[in-house]
Amino acid sequence: MPADNNHSDERSAERRPLIDEIKRLKAEKNAIVLAHYYVDGDIQDVADYVGDSLALAQTAAAKGADADIIVMCGVNFMGETVKMLCPDKKVLVPDDNAGCTLASGCPAGKLRAFIAEHPGHTVVSYVNTTLDVKALSDLLVTSSNAVKVVESLPADEKIIFGPDRNLGRYIMEQTGRDMVLWDACCYLHNRFDAEGIARLKADNPDAKVLVHPECPQDVTILADKVGSTKALLEFSASDPATTFIVATEPGILHKMRQASPSKKFIEAPVAYGMRNVCRFMKLNTLEKLAACLRDETPVVEVDAAVAERARRPLDRMLELS
Ligand code: 13P
Ligand code: SF4
Repeated sequence: MPADNNHSDERSAERRPLIDEIKRLKAEKNAIVLAHYYVDGDIQDVADYVGDSLALAQTAAAKGADADIIVMCGVNFMGETVKMLCPDKKVLVPDDNAGCTLASGCPAGKLRAFIAEHPGHTVVSYVNTTLDVKALSDLLVTSSNAVKVVESLPADEKIIFGPDRNLGRYIMEQTGRDMVLWDACCYLHNRFDAEGIARLKADNPDAKVLVHPECPQDVTILADKVGSTKALLEFSASDPATTFIVATEPGILHKMRQASPSKKFIEAPVAYGMRNVCRFMKLNTLEKLAACLRDETPVVEVDAAVAERARRPLDRMLELS
């Protein structure tokens, strides 16, 4: 057996008591665990549902009612979305320091002033935002449905899109719409290195390049497929290529490898010697998941009035998806 397999077998044996405890607590407390593709593989394996932002919101809306506790292993805006959709449930997150540079890059007060500078515009926001920003929005999108949702608006509608300028630019390219863009980005996706990816592609000419739309244009133009985490996973499973260069957070490689064990997945490089992981997603650990189920904290709380306003653009998006 290769050394890597020995190592991962030893690791899973070591983690077995923790995994058993999580399973026992889930059953005892009628809890469900939702996980984003970017969290560690061992959390994905113990979760009840794994998905992209849209699928996780849809799952919370569809399955939340049957649970007493919902744990969201992802980042804070995802926990808030679950709480908005399931206001009567106890919603927990393993670590409430799990922010997102898109959410922090768009403070509600500044967005309010920006909206005032652009009267007559419809405000379309990415779900990677605070609840206050969602409450200021007319419509929300995720990376899965952004193009479709924007296309659903009349062709002459004036649109403000935020906070991700890269996703905004990608939507404009796909729809031919002109939108006023907020200027923020994902600190990780904005750093994927086009030159490094081109070099990898030269070394692996048959490889297909998979890119998340939060990446800048010099990276998206290298892509064979641009899409949300779920779309990239589905493409890698159905496409006949056997090697893929993946320009998004490498947590997704866990499901890609499970779906296509004989295919090769190469992590795309990130500039400036930066680590290619989302430091917020990686705050989720099995230990913290067990502790949060055991102690029922940290609890996600949302302001009821703000949540009610934020619910309108969220429901509108879910109806369109
Ligand atoms: P998805 O919409 O693909 O889940 O992406 C969310 C995200 O935060 C990407 O950085
Ligand atoms: Fe936010 Fe980027 Fe992390 Fe996604 S990868 S949660 S956009 S910081």
